[in-house]
Parts: sequence; structure tokens; C-alpha cells
Amino acid sequence: MTHADISDVLLFREQISEAVKRMAHQIEEDYPKELPLMVGILKGSFIFMADLVRQMQRPFEMDFLRLSSYGSGVDSSGKVRLRMGVTRPVRDRDVLLVEDIVDTGLTTSYAVGYLQRKRAGSVKLCALLDKPSHRQTQVAPDYVGFTIPDKFVVGYGLDFDEQYRHLPDIHVLKKGQL
Ligand code: IMP
Ligand code: MG
Repeated sequence: MTHADISDVLLFREQISEAVKRMAHQIEEDYPKELPLMVGILKGSFIFMADLVRQMQRPFEMDFLRLSSYGSGVDSSGKVRLRMGVTRPVRDRDVLLVEDIVDTGLTTSYAVGYLQRKRAGSVKLCALLDKPSHRQTQVAPDYVGFTIPDKFVVGYGLDFDEQYRHLPDIHVLKKGQL
């Protein structure tokens, strides 16, 4: 690996792929009648969402929300901004939010609130990674791939300063970068 800023692999692509399959099967079981409208939170969820939806055996709709809370650093600014809303109707529908990682929970809480204001019938949350050590809100994902320690991770859609989203495994960012 030639990227100087990243160190060890925390989660290998094979482990991620297994977790994604497990979550997809659980979601299919939990929504026996009709799969929910899946709403990915951009940009971080784009690779996870792409893998998750390709495990589904039944048709369903998907949409995206674009939120931002981070400046260019590694700490949440605490202010979440809506940059792009959904385009599919949400009212009275089951919605599943798809997130890369829940850290403070502020982004997710904002997204849940946004969908509730649009009168979604139900809102559940699927997060590939859960980093509970800095939680500032009550959110708890309904589906979790991995609970991880308090480390800043990149790869598989997750960035540091818009870099490293393309990496197939999830790595820890080197201390010197923080
Ligand atoms: P929260 O609002 O603090 O829960 O943060 C959620 C967002 O922060 C995620 O959607 C990510 O985009 C970003 N984030 C939080 N922790 C990390 C990390 O370890 N690596 C990369 N992005 C992160
Ligand atoms: Mg991010």
C-alpha cells in the first residue's frame, strides 16, 4: 500500500462483505411484505449502499440525502446541514436510512427528524459502522455491521478530507494526520 497517511487494516473486504450479507438478510426478514424505501446518506454511504442493495432479492426503491457536518477535519462541527433532500415520496412509507458510520449521532438524528417531518410511516437505521464512544444523541442503529473503537477510519466510502473513499478495506488513519 502506497498511501502514506493510513495504517493497518481494521476491517478486510471479506469481513465487510460478510457483514453486508448478514445485514441484507436480516432486513429482508424484517420486512416480509414490502422492502422499505432505502435512503443513503451521501457521500459516505455510497459504496456500502451499492453492496447492500445488490444483496436484495425483491424490488424496492432507493433515494439519497446529502448532509454534511464535518469541515475538513476529523471532529464533527456539530452543525448538520441539508445539502440535498429526497425526491421519492416518503409519507406513510417505511424508510431505511443507510449510513456509513454513526459517531456523535448528530447526522443520523438530523436525518431521522427530516424524514419524520415528511411523515414517514417508520424510520429505521442501518449503519455499517457504529462508533458509540462520542455519542451525543439517543440514536442506536437497528442494523450494525461492526461496532468499532474510537479511531478515525477511512476506506469503503469513508473519507478523510475527501481522500481514501476508494479503498476496498477499512483502514485506521495514522495518528500524525489528526
Ligand atoms: P456524526 O454526525 O458525528 O454521527 O457523524 C457522522 C458522519 O461523520 C458520518 O456520516 C461520516 O461521514 C463522518 N465520520 C464520523 N466518523 C468518521 C470516521 O471515523 N471516518 C470517516 N468519517 C467519519
Ligand atoms: Mg464524511
